[in-house]
Amino acid sequence: MLRISVLVSGGGTNLQAVIDGIESGFIKNARIGLVISSNPNAYSLKRAKKHNIKTVIIGKTNYPEQEVRTKAIIAALHDAKTDLVILAGYMSILDQSLVEAYRGRIINIHPSLIPQFCGPGFYGKRVHESVLASGASETGATVHYVDEGVDTGPIILQEKVPVLEGDTADILADRVLETEHKILAEAVNIVIASIQQE
Ligand code: GRF
Repeated sequence: MLRISVLVSGGGTNLQAVIDGIESGFIKNARIGLVISSNPNAYSLKRAKKHNIKTVIIGKTNYPEQEVRTKAIIAALHDAKTDLVILAGYMSILDQSLVEAYRGRIINIHPSLIPQFCGPGFYGKRVHESVLASGASETGATVHYVDEGVDTGPIILQEKVPVLEGDTADILADRVLETEHKILAEAVNIVIASIQQE
């Protein structure tokens, strides 16, 4: 049974996709042992509690010093015996020491077709605003391994999403989010299989 820890900051629809994937049996041989939120008010926390998943808040509010904050995250992941870390709507950049501690075991979901519209400053709605401003006819979602860069690790899975006439950033974000949920669950299965073959 693979132990997953999920890092969140906001609404948690991607966390919910992993919870639902496990509960439906689509994602096998895994359970979510811990949800770490950087935001004490994240709705993600309510989603986790509803499914009896342990939660802890580790963010700038209660760990203002970055090094101490990173050590607290690593300790929490370690205590949860984490095999796989999922960044699901997590809005902080991971410290090098955390990437090192879990190299090859951290994945992230990004709401664009990496390498387009990604990197520093490209997060949340800003991604979709940039897609619309570029006039692109399609965008997408990507699940990738996390390395020391921002949105630069090896791609695990990505899927295209059309940009339609009259799209606003909110409409496009909702359409992309559906694909995020789908490919995140699929990517978790791919990563679990590769970990089990190690
Ligand atoms: C999603 O678009 C995700 O890709 C981005 O944050 C948005 C909200 O994610 N990182 P969630 O609903 O909190 O999972």
